[in-house]
Amino acid sequence: MADTIGMAILAAGEGKRLGKPIPKPLVELLGRPLVDYVYESAVSFANDNFSSVKTGMVVGHQKELIIEHYKKSEIEFPVQEKQLGTADALRSYFKGCDWASSCGYTLVICGDTPLISKQELSMLWKTMKGNKVDGAAATFLTDNPYGYGRIVSESGPGFKIVEEKDATDEQRKINNVNSGLYLFKTSYLMDKLSAVSNDNKSGEFYLTDVFSEEENVGYCTFKDSVPFMGVNNLVQLNSARLFMQYRINMNHLQNGVHILDESSTWIDSSVVIGKGTTIYPQVHLRGNSVIGENCIVDTGVVFNNSKVDNNVEIKPYSILEDSQVSSGCSIGPYARLRPGANIGEKSKIGNFVEIKKSNLKKGVSVSHLSYVGDAEIDDNVNIGCGFITCNYDGANKSKTIIGKNSFIGSDTQMIAPVSVGESCYIASGSTISKDLQDGDF
Ligand code: UD1
Ligand code: MG
Repeated sequence: MADTIGMAILAAGEGKRLGKPIPKPLVELLGRPLVDYVYESAVSFANDNFSSVKTGMVVGHQKELIIEHYKKSEIEFPVQEKQLGTADALRSYFKGCDWASSCGYTLVICGDTPLISKQELSMLWKTMKGNKVDGAAATFLTDNPYGYGRIVSESGPGFKIVEEKDATDEQRKINNVNSGLYLFKTSYLMDKLSAVSNDNKSGEFYLTDVFSEEENVGYCTFKDSVPFMGVNNLVQLNSARLFMQYRINMNHLQNGVHILDESSTWIDSSVVIGKGTTIYPQVHLRGNSVIGENCIVDTGVVFNNSKVDNNVEIKPYSILEDSQVSSGCSIGPYARLRPGANIGEKSKIGNFVEIKKSNLKKGVSVSHLSYVGDAEIDDNVNIGCGFITCNYDGANKSKTIIGKNSFIGSDTQMIAPVSVGESCYIASGSTISKDLQDGDF
């Protein structure tokens, strides 16, 4: 593993056809920007095979947003001012990254192919090493080659790539096409790159022109085109999502998470789920959510950056956002946990209950139609139906504190700031605006 690799991720494209206000590389696919998937696969491959890895992401359109997204990473951002073609993008990479020319190898990968995994990259690397070539392209077979560069090898040791616009009718029939993923010896790439012209039907500098039939170059043909699927429009974005969704869900099923209907369950790639947990149809689990073992997540539940411990049941149509639920709880149906809801062990949150920025300790029960905001509720408090913390006076938010073992009757309103001691008993229909001491009723 003495070799060094530089990775050029081509991400200067605008992605007009996606119609989003953000650049294409940042368009979301199951909770992450498209280009994140590409970067992750590339890094994972490179770390397995090379002693040193550096990345340059070629940016152009709305580059500030992409740079901001990766501000904590070690990626560098060579800028391609005008999109004059893929060869020009690579020239920008070498110009913008001072280390790029001294890396032994260069990987070129497009930022809009999120389904490429380490496997395809490893296959390409094996082809390159096995055939001792200076450059290798990943190609695939397709029934509909329209729009892709065709792989042409009629003579010599190498091959060339002919773009759709420049191909003859005979060449257009070729169904072995260029995926846009390449590995090169850097010295070879730089040498050939300098000679690339834009003398073609598109007037673009084609990176594909670095391959030719006279050179010592090779290709690795994949039967499955799915990993190379590019995302240029919303139809392709949805297709990519379907494949990614299937991949993620199959992975969970193999790890013992029982997803009852993988086609209607959307789980972001960042979500962690413990074994023995059952996920009913039409569930969305987003962001950095974590679900423990042996939980039930019933139909229509939405998680956003929320954490649930073991043995929790989330009943249908509940929404959890930046919340935490400890083991043995039952939540919902139709419960809403808003940011900062922190539910202690074996508590029960029932239907049409909203909880915001509140700590509920062990064994608390809020079973029906209540709003709990900015509250601290201690162990074993029972809250009746239709309870409200009046936490907002129009200007400030204030706290409600309820001590252990207190019983709060139905239709009670607490005018915050207010506190209730331990073991208090509040009759139904009360409006509490003054603090109560332990044992008051
Ligand atoms: C390219 C290949 C084609 C291949 C196809 C696979 C060339 C000349 N052709 O064609 O053989 O079958 O990909 O999808 O390379 N980009 C830049 N700057 C530019 C131009 C492109 O950064 O000036 C980036 C794009 O954002 C994209 C990638 O390079 O991520 C590929 O560019 P694209 O214009 O889609 O190339 P194709 O015409 O599809
Ligand atoms: Mg393309």
